[in-house]
Amino acid sequence: MKTDSCNTTKIKIGDVFTPFRWGRFAIEQFGIFERWMNGSTVFDPTMGQGNLLITLVQHGVEKGFKPKELPILNLFGNELNTDYYQKALQFFQDEFNTDMSKNFSNLDILELPCEPFDIIFGNPPWQNFNDLPEAYKKKIKPHFEKYQLTGNKRKLLLGHSRIDIAALIIKATIRDFLIPGGDAYFFMPLSLLLNDGAHEAFRNYISAEAPFAPMEIFDFNKEDVFNKIATRYGLVHFQRNRQPEFPIRYKVLKNQTWELLYAAPLTSLSAGFSIFEDLNNSLLNSFSKIPLNKKNQPRQGLNTCGANKLFFFNECSKLDEETYLLNNTTELPSAFIFPLLTAANFRNEKNPTLWVLLPYTKDGRPLSAAEIKRWPQLNNYLCSAADLLKARKGTLIRSWINKGIWWALLGVGPYNYAPYKIVWEAYGRKKFSPQIFEGKWQANQALQAFIPCYSQNEAKSILKKLQNPVVEKILLSHRMEGTMNWAQPGKIKKLIEFI
Ligand SMILES: C[S@@+](CC[C@H](N)C(=O)[O-])C[C@H]1O[C@@H](n2cnc3c(N)ncnc32)[C@H](O)[C@@H]1O
Repeated sequence: MKTDSCNTTKIKIGDVFTPFRWGRFAIEQFGIFERWMNGSTVFDPTMGQGNLLITLVQHGVEKGFKPKELPILNLFGNELNTDYYQKALQFFQDEFNTDMSKNFSNLDILELPCEPFDIIFGNPPWQNFNDLPEAYKKKIKPHFEKYQLTGNKRKLLLGHSRIDIAALIIKATIRDFLIPGGDAYFFMPLSLLLNDGAHEAFRNYISAEAPFAPMEIFDFNKEDVFNKIATRYGLVHFQRNRQPEFPIRYKVLKNQTWELLYAAPLTSLSAGFSIFEDLNNSLLNSFSKIPLNKKNQPRQGLNTCGANKLFFFNECSKLDEETYLLNNTTELPSAFIFPLLTAANFRNEKNPTLWVLLPYTKDGRPLSAAEIKRWPQLNNYLCSAADLLKARKGTLIRSWINKGIWWALLGVGPYNYAPYKIVWEAYGRKKFSPQIFEGKWQANQALQAFIPCYSQNEAKSILKKLQNPVVEKILLSHRMEGTMNWAQPGKIKKLIEFI
């Protein structure tokens, strides 16, 4: 490579190395060894200690070649961390008697001068932008913008974007280090392709001006490839200068065998992939989006930001027309107490078993300090809990607390006061069963999501559309059932056309 190593850093970002067994798997699946032997250059942009490149050489040795008979000088690598970079250099020197100092560089890949290679074979660091070291976050923010990865710019600026740095490294290296039409093979978190939210920005399949297409996916499913890393990961083939064409092959490892399925984004190019068993799945052709008014957009339930003990009550009895006794200890104005849905209410339980305090006006605005003072019981209760409420953590709730509105919750707005809600259990379920709840019932963000409705007829008509079996089939096609990602509002929004 043209660059001398001039950087020394011990910074550690996503330093999980690919076991040789899985490096070999990738090499065999994609014929990387044969192409390398035929003259292709291979580049690992974030090579760690060089495992993937070493595996290529070892694969050759296992086939009976001597290291000197292999085109080792057509292997290139780069690594940010100096210790790992030096280990890679040392390994090639000791084991293959090859000086790689002109082939390996020790820089941030985002600062390495462009150079085209035939094949990229990598495993980028996986780490949420959020969890990166503060100084590094600042440094790489402009790169997220350059590669159009700032889907939610505000979140990125506030420093709590859930976008993974892997998305940036993949886009940047496809653009800067791959020949036109070249192939890139990455071990990567599958959230980049499957999840809604932050990673939609990755799925415009354009890296600055260079388009690229996902070609094939290996989903490692429950296989523990990276030693107890909880992320859902896989091996993905991308090709540069190619427009995406769907469905693509999606292979899932089940009981040591690869099941062949197909993946396609269903509702828009940037939607998380749906996974199908047969190529001509009728869902692909038959689904048309549910038309809904903007005022009916799906919402998350309310969130106390860790203060359930202060906002939630297990018991509630009426003392008089205006006052409830909560948990047998606290008297509060009934105007601010609402029944909160629990799992039991989605089975047979008709009555509330949990109540929530919402110190809000009927149009979903937090009460002002002056308004609270007009309700002495409410004022006393909140003041007695003030220290705990003010100590809540999280960027969004902090911004309310900093404005002096320390009794706020998240996920409360005018929609909480709609006369009807269609609510569903949004997490950890395997069936999509929306139901209409009347009046004051509230949804809990940890468990449910809802659509606010402004008349019974409206609620019934929207419910009917949501009960179309195709909706559940599409949710199941994301293969997120039983997980936190099952039916969040974002997933349902994908099925809706706002009118
Ligand atoms: C998941 S590891 C994979 C290493 C190697 N490709 C493998 O498969 O064993 C990712 C590597 O990327 C390095 N890294 C993180 N950020 C980087 C950056 N901006 N530029 C270059 N390397 C980086 C980390 O130090 C780590 O060694």
